[in-house]
Amino acid sequence: MAKNDRANFGSKIGVILASAGSAVGLGNIWRFPYETGNNGGAAFILIYLGCVFILGLPIMVSEFLIGRRSRANTAGAYRVLAPRTQWKWVGRMGVLTGFLILSYYSVVAGWTLEYVVEAGTNSFAGKQPSDFINSFNSFSANPWRPLIWLILFLVGTHLIIIKGVEKGIEKSSKIMMPALFILIIILMVCSVTLPGAGAGIEFLLKPDFSKVTGSVFLSAMGQAFFSLSLGMGCLSTYASYFGKDTSLTKTAFSVGIIDTMVAILAGFIIFPAAFSVGIEPDHGPSLIFITLPNVFQQAFSGVPLLAYIFSVMFYVLLAVAALTSTISMHEVVTAYLHEEFKFTRKRAATLVTISCIVLGIFCSLSLGPTKSITLFGLNTFDLFDYVTAKIMLPLGGFFVSIFVGWYLDKNIVKAEITNNGTLKVNIYKIIIFILRYIAPVAIAIIFINELGILK
Ligand code: PFF
Repeated sequence: MAKNDRANFGSKIGVILASAGSAVGLGNIWRFPYETGNNGGAAFILIYLGCVFILGLPIMVSEFLIGRRSRANTAGAYRVLAPRTQWKWVGRMGVLTGFLILSYYSVVAGWTLEYVVEAGTNSFAGKQPSDFINSFNSFSANPWRPLIWLILFLVGTHLIIIKGVEKGIEKSSKIMMPALFILIIILMVCSVTLPGAGAGIEFLLKPDFSKVTGSVFLSAMGQAFFSLSLGMGCLSTYASYFGKDTSLTKTAFSVGIIDTMVAILAGFIIFPAAFSVGIEPDHGPSLIFITLPNVFQQAFSGVPLLAYIFSVMFYVLLAVAALTSTISMHEVVTAYLHEEFKFTRKRAATLVTISCIVLGIFCSLSLGPTKSITLFGLNTFDLFDYVTAKIMLPLGGFFVSIFVGWYLDKNIVKAEITNNGTLKVNIYKIIIFILRYIAPVAIAIIFINELGILK
């Protein structure tokens, strides 16, 4: 197996940045706010936090150990660790999930490029909230423009994948991720000081448990898996490039904290701003594209130059955050085709890019010209999102927890988590307990309750 042309993370900070680069993306800044808005606010966030820390982190440690131990792509990993068993199907399902998510995620990633251009040409200036709603609607329903951005985004991802990840992504992540973080904090301060922002803050902080239903739990769990890049072998693929001295628990904790902070801060940008200009929080996928341009306009209304600079910077960084995530999904599928089918890495990547462009075109058109074609009441874009985030990722997480909690040799699990006994990991027993009992049962209950399997 040719491993040398795969990415390799040299430094510990590289490991954390690459994993956090995969985790932090549109899931935090685009999906988390609209899921929070659709599911009633603060109570959803509390359940989400529970899903991240109780289910997400132990499953992340599990994916890390599967990847580092096997040093293979996600399907190959199960072949190495559980030879001649059906576990390989878990890896294969992960590859399929990655492929489907990449297709519709790239549509939204493409939208960020449109907004880079709009911000860059100063076309937000002087617009009213209703203008932003109209211009987003006409853009996303346009048959051509979103497709061009989608293709450009996937070609950009492709070029980085075939060049190798370390130099491009590791290096730029070191500058871009802290820059994104600082900018998010500045924007949050602007947003919470807008007139009428208090209602948005209340929406985020005051839980209304009367709104909690089974579907809120399923949404929160799906969002946790999506945001942490879990359940499809993405982090296990990355961990196959980790060094022997990387602490899996510390890395998982750092990634979890960074990812959660970015999501919560994004909430504190979007909702105060939305309430301030009277935009409903349950606006769905268009939410950030109509509220954020307003934040820039209103918060810096006296200083147009600042409004201009911050809006351009924000969309550039959002596009970069999306790119570090699309790369990680692309890598899952490319590494699989390269190692399992012996395609050259370039050919594998080309196949992935072209197929994702084709599927992405269907997803993009389903928001406009082919909107009326639906399955279970959902258009292609929403269907891909629902099936992957709410079914396939949690199902992947379920199998990962059973695999590490019950199937895998305990000596292997312990050796990986403690780096062959050189690290003292106090929470080892808790991790194993969660993987054996809590995670599978919780995921199963949420599934059975919401998907009506028993009804
Ligand atoms: N975690 C990414 C985000 O929040 O934008 C999306 C993602 C990346 C999901 C990689 C799944 C994955 F394997």
